[in-house]
Amino acid sequence: MSKKRARGHKDRSLGFSTLSVHGGQDRQKPDDSITTPIFQTSTFVFRSLAEGVRYARLRSQGKATRFEYGRYGSPTHRDAERKIAELEGAEAALVFASGMAAVSTALLALVSQGEHIVCGDEVYKKTRDLCQVVLPRFGVETTFIPTTDLRALKRALRPNTAAVLLECPTNPRLFVPDIARTARLVHQHCSARLLVDSTFATPINLRPLELGADLVIHSVTKYLGGHNDILGGAATGSKELIDQVFELHKYLGAVMDAHCAYLLIRGLKTLDVRMRKHNENGLAVARFLARHPKVKTTYYPGLPSHPDYRRARRQMTGFGGVVSFELKGDLKAVGRFMDALTIPYLGPSLGGVESLAYHPASLTFNELSAKERTELGITDQLIRLSCGIEDADDLIADLKQALKRV
Ligand SMILES: Cc1ncc(COP(=O)(O)O)c(C=O)c1O
Repeated sequence: MSKKRARGHKDRSLGFSTLSVHGGQDRQKPDDSITTPIFQTSTFVFRSLAEGVRYARLRSQGKATRFEYGRYGSPTHRDAERKIAELEGAEAALVFASGMAAVSTALLALVSQGEHIVCGDEVYKKTRDLCQVVLPRFGVETTFIPTTDLRALKRALRPNTAAVLLECPTNPRLFVPDIARTARLVHQHCSARLLVDSTFATPINLRPLELGADLVIHSVTKYLGGHNDILGGAATGSKELIDQVFELHKYLGAVMDAHCAYLLIRGLKTLDVRMRKHNENGLAVARFLARHPKVKTTYYPGLPSHPDYRRARRQMTGFGGVVSFELKGDLKAVGRFMDALTIPYLGPSLGGVESLAYHPASLTFNELSAKERTELGITDQLIRLSCGIEDADDLIADLKQALKRV
């Protein structure tokens, strides 16, 4: 059995921490370096024209074994892609300059003019805008459905539906669609592909491809990078689908920088250990918030009070570090609470080692009317907290003192 196969997750011969550290890596690297070097180069040169001609012939047969030009990848990108593919249990992966580059390139690669998308109604705002504002200009229509509503999904599917896009869990209220049943329904009714944005879950907590999804997307800016220091995206799936996405990626050109690919590999090596801590902190903080008299609602799929708790328990092995909650009080009280926090920083993003608190109503959704925000579940009292890997006791003590200001 080849080393690569032995390391594949499917045969479960290696655990996730071992895969995080060693997955996708050749043991033999240039000059016996233990880490993958940063190939800071825009081009890969030929030693003779004959070598170039040979390469071009192999490339047209899909058999090229070397690199050519930076926009088409480098050994640093390849190692990041292999590692993500192995962690996700996929045949192939492709990295991008941002999560949005992954979402938009994948959708544009799979959907053509006159075709249709079904999208969960709770998705990252820019994904929603892409489907609602940008894609209609190219003759692509989107129907939004409540993420976990399979009947609504069935009604929305059309013969020309080319893609169904869901987040799992969703941003920000952490709803958990049933991926296996969604995949069955989609594949029974049309030829659409099921795309799952698994950014909040990571391959440690959720295995969308094993449940029947066709393509898994990540903003690696979040947990996969893990240190609040890179922007990037990834798509993983069958070689055939990733090749299809790669064909368009060559034109759109949203390429990850080589240094970023290196930092991504470095971040991925600790993915399993970090996720265990994020899961532990998320659950401890959610339990604390759910019991606190100044908290109205706590959204965390690991709490029995979350509407998708049972599904999450069945489908996921951990629930992540993001906890969303609504305070009892007005916008001023929310401001006092957030300004009093001393461990979480205030700002967008999530999934890094530093905790981050965010107020969606005044930041991402500030351009919508109060009515539109309420329809999307984004109340003035809603706060999204991304628990980092600090000590849970310290995070809870900090929340406790800040809640006194409410
Ligand atoms: C679920 C989800 N998908 C995609 C994105 C976009 O990722 P990026 O910011 O890396 O472009 C985000 C960003 O917050 C996100 O939360």
